[in-house]
Amino acid sequence: MQTNDLTMRPITGRDELDLFSRLPYVLNEELADDLAAGRRRPEWMWIALRGDRLLARAAWWSRPADDAPLILDILDIEDSTAGPDRVDIGARLLHTAMAATLPNGSRPPDYSRFVPPDWRENAVTRQAVEDRMTVLERTGARLFVERLRLEWRPGSPVPEPDGRLAFRPVRDREELVALMSSALDGTLDAHSRDDLTRMPEHEAAVRHYEDELARYTSPRDWWRIATLPGGEPVGFVVPARNDYNAIIAYIAVLPSHRGNGYIDAILAEGTRILAGQHVPRIRASTDLGNVPMANAFRRAGYINFEREINMTWS
Ligand SMILES: CC(C)(COP(=O)(O)OP(=O)(O)OC[C@H]1O[C@@H](n2cnc3c(N)ncnc32)[C@H](O)[C@@H]1OP(=O)(O)O)[C@@H](O)C(=O)NCCC(=O)NCCS
Repeated sequence: MQTNDLTMRPITGRDELDLFSRLPYVLNEELADDLAAGRRRPEWMWIALRGDRLLARAAWWSRPADDAPLILDILDIEDSTAGPDRVDIGARLLHTAMAATLPNGSRPPDYSRFVPPDWRENAVTRQAVEDRMTVLERTGARLFVERLRLEWRPGSPVPEPDGRLAFRPVRDREELVALMSSALDGTLDAHSRDDLTRMPEHEAAVRHYEDELARYTSPRDWWRIATLPGGEPVGFVVPARNDYNAIIAYIAVLPSHRGNGYIDAILAEGTRILAGQHVPRIRASTDLGNVPMANAFRRAGYINFEREINMTWS
């Protein structure tokens, strides 16, 4: 597609990954593997060129067998291009790519962008992040939530169990779904709260289980229920491995047990299970506004190495 000396098109394939990667972003190094594994497709990786200069790009990610994109996780513009033109080019590319790539009439997949933890304090970084957000707003998106990305590295101490809680594996899907369902009560997590505006707790828990937890191929005997010494469940932790890293996939304390500091022992247990696999790092994330969870990660030695901006078209 050619408008105003701008060419907008998907890349032809692996052969154009170098061209696509001319704009810098932390995900560039994963693109080749993602293409090979079917998590990305050339027709979902769009570029805007003026001559041979790359001015903007957009790309979606999905799970290998999906027929439609799951997340818009790359959107870049050449930050040195003059002011309004820069945002305009990005918006035109995104608009064109969305129309060509997304199923007609469907809600576009959410946007995810990794940004430095202090992105608001640095004028240059802030401009780059806000320009991309403006591009997205021009196609109808709005800020949904800002999240903390966290990392634990081997060598950081993991607190020993203090004896207040016992841990056992999860019996079956129903047990975990029931606990996930009750943990939704009073949650501070924005995605969970949004789910609860559209469906009852049990359905939200089932969807979270099926869409995410059930898909991890790492052993389910890593998953743990925390109980009081008498056996009453207090919370749970789901350590797992995704396509890239060992992760704390989900963790919670049941509403009637919150405020007792149990989260520290539960997080330590999940961390210990993954550290026992001798992984090079453990990743986790939580909303900026989920202060009790963010504090627990900090106390457990997790470093906030990035933030994530989520935007939505809902
Ligand atoms: C986040 C969570 C695990 C914290 O567990 P916890 O054991 O209550 O944590 P703490 O004991 O450290 O509580 C810290 C403080 O935050 C408060 N708090 C904890 N969760 C809260 C919530 N959902 N809403 C309001 N306040 C909360 C506690 O009451 C406590 O306050 P206090 O110090 O004045 O008593 C728990 O709230 C939870 O399960 N939330 C729902 C699931 C969730 O968000 N999981 C994390 C996804 S990344």
